[in-house]
Amino acid sequence: MGVMDGHVALVTGAAGGIGAAAAAALGAAGAELMLADLDAGRLAGTAAALGAAHVMLDVTSRASWEAAVEATIARFGRLSVLVNNAGISEPGDIESVTDDSWSRHIAVNLTGVMLGMQVAAPALRAAGLPAAIVNVASMLSLRPGAPFAAYCASKAGMVALSQAAALHFARSGAAIRVNTVHPGAILTPMLERYLDMNPDQPREEVLAGFAANHPMGRVGEAGEVAQAILFLASPLASFTTGAMLPVDGAGHIRD
Ligand SMILES: NC(=O)c1ccc[n+]([C@@H]2O[C@H](COP(=O)([O-])OP(=O)(O)OC[C@H]3O[C@@H](n4cnc5c(N)ncnc54)[C@H](O)[C@@H]3O)[C@@H](O)[C@H]2O)c1
Repeated sequence: MGVMDGHVALVTGAAGGIGAAAAAALGAAGAELMLADLDAGRLAGTAAALGAAHVMLDVTSRASWEAAVEATIARFGRLSVLVNNAGISEPGDIESVTDDSWSRHIAVNLTGVMLGMQVAAPALRAAGLPAAIVNVASMLSLRPGAPFAAYCASKAGMVALSQAAALHFARSGAAIRVNTVHPGAILTPMLERYLDMNPDQPREEVLAGFAANHPMGRVGEAGEVAQAILFLASPLASFTTGAMLPVDGAGHIRD
């Protein structure tokens, strides 16, 4: 018996990092899994390792979302948990961020989450058991950082959108909760790209810089974020909606 028995979870950005860890945690708790990602090669390998189904998904495309939700229903007969985890992060402050980088952040991190919630809503309403959406935001949507202007803005927009959706579903009597998780720096391929970005700076030094932003003195592990996602997706959080759960070693309140 697991807390997610009977649930079917669609997890985006599930080829690796936090998405793969969240899928593993949901699966270990009894959920059936549909893993979705843009990266076909890594996605198939992760799905095989977890015994999960998988589907190609570009979160920026409504047609791609419709196909992914249809594939989930065709395979499992229902959809009760949506984890909007796919995201991108590129450096750029307000003076240097390019139009293209800005547009990419908004398309993936904000529009992608809107499309996912909207397209999945009829299936979540019809799930036959209390449904949940968990959207992966960031510590940087609670405490912005100058070098990541587009990222902070896209994630903060996504939080407001999540809360608007939480209110909507609660007031319309739909059994769909919506919450956000706010990771600090987490050791995943996304963070690895930052560690290797500047060939003149040793990666240990960059990692120590990220760790220093977290009063607990370290960066996090994907599995630690996965447990927070599992909690919010599960019936243990049955009266929690519109909430923001930081998983950042107190980074968002650091003094
Ligand atoms: N790692 C961190 O330090 C950190 C911190 C705060 C928040 N987050 C957030 O956590 C989430 C997961 O990040 P991660 O660290 O595991 O990163 P990651 O880069 O390892 O994984 C992100 C995944 O999203 C997929 N993806 C990107 N664009 C997509 C698209 N258009 N459609 C479908 N899939 C797409 C990628 O292929 C990748 O598999 C992201 O939303 C990220 O912003 C990460």
